[in-house]
Amino acid sequence: MDGPASTKSASRRSFLKGALTGGAAIAASTALVGRAGAQSDPLVTDIQDWNRYLGEGVDARPYGTPSQFEEHVVRRNVAWLTSDPISSVNFTPLHELEGIITPNGLCFERHHAGIAEIAPADHRLMINGLVDQPLIFTMDDLKRFPRENKVYFLECAANSGMEWRGAQLNGCQYTHGMVHCVMYTGVSLRTILEEAGVKANGSWLLAEGADASAMTRSIPMEKALDDCMVAFAMNGEALRPEQGYPLRLVVPGWEGNMWVKWLRRLEVGDQPWHHREETSKYTDLLSNGKARRFTWVMEVKSVITNPSPQAPIKHGRGHTVLSGLAWSGNGTIKRVDVTTDGGRNWHQARIDGPSLPMALHRFYYEFDWDGSELFLQSRAIDDKGFVQPTKDELRTARGPNSIYHNNGIQTWHVDSDGVIENVEIS
Ligand code: MTE
Ligand code: CO
Repeated sequence: MDGPASTKSASRRSFLKGALTGGAAIAASTALVGRAGAQSDPLVTDIQDWNRYLGEGVDARPYGTPSQFEEHVVRRNVAWLTSDPISSVNFTPLHELEGIITPNGLCFERHHAGIAEIAPADHRLMINGLVDQPLIFTMDDLKRFPRENKVYFLECAANSGMEWRGAQLNGCQYTHGMVHCVMYTGVSLRTILEEAGVKANGSWLLAEGADASAMTRSIPMEKALDDCMVAFAMNGEALRPEQGYPLRLVVPGWEGNMWVKWLRRLEVGDQPWHHREETSKYTDLLSNGKARRFTWVMEVKSVITNPSPQAPIKHGRGHTVLSGLAWSGNGTIKRVDVTTDGGRNWHQARIDGPSLPMALHRFYYEFDWDGSELFLQSRAIDDKGFVQPTKDELRTARGPNSIYHNNGIQTWHVDSDGVIENVEIS
């Protein structure tokens, strides 16, 4: 890096300290990261095309899309992970995002039988089983109930699953990108269930999707009556087809496979149903061959999204912004600590933006990089006091055969060129 901003890191460090304690005014002459000599920059002094020619009118982009210069910001899949893209997954580009809300077009997708395309006028939601009165709702019917707006993360139980045995995939998009966080609009599940009248022995709910996988999941009635929703909108617009248009179940803080998309039926029963998926795939296999079942809550977790393997440090030494995401299915995030030296020294990160229960939280840690190798880690603590474990702690508790529910601490190695790799240290 050139310009005076990159020299004298010691004085800049003291400036930073002053700025953070409110003393910014005294250091007005030394820019933090700006450059001197801008008057010789043709991008400043010359007239550019965008300045010279008229742009497109208001009729050119009836549904807006991101700038052409953001073309690389897309969901990506890993071809070798699954045998075909119909029953597969793609990943949210976490390293390209800011704040806590995932844009609709970038929410990771996980389908067992592809995307069902359903006209809302043809969609029905049925409630049957142990209810006083079985009911069928159209989408118009559902929109006549009182609505609520809630921000929640959705994390697939398989997120970080490839990382159980060791560092595998080079980028937080792949290691942690089976999570998204949007504002849902819909009707509380309790309202719908009360309309049908759950019988006294109705202790379980079966949720069924209308896609070709006819996916079903059992949900305990306690959770169903607590905070679940049937949602028809995300981030202010109708659900995307990928996310279950026109209707999906929202099961806050619990693993993604219970959030049934294209929701068409709710059956009340007095015991859990047997599901192929739940008993074979969404079960944590322990080293003694026993299975850990009914582990629904997504436990406290965090990841540094920048810098990270897909977002190396390109500006050289000096002022560096570290940013990341933390979340917990148990509530809010109370604190995130970060280390740049593999855990020898921990620093409390700054959480910025809303702190909502069972939603993503954004954290930052600003530091002065001296150009030496770093081992970056983050460790989140939720408001119930749960602390994110190390991967070794997880393996000791659950053995090496698990795939699901990996909330272990992630390590990124930064070399002196700013190139970053997924590693494990112990
Ligand atoms: N619902 C139906 N009907 N079919 C599916 O394949 N996949 C589940 C769940 N709901 C699935 C479904 C899984 S495993 C996950 S992780 C989430 O949807 C993913 O939600 P998303 O595609 O909106 O990210
Ligand atoms: Co899933």
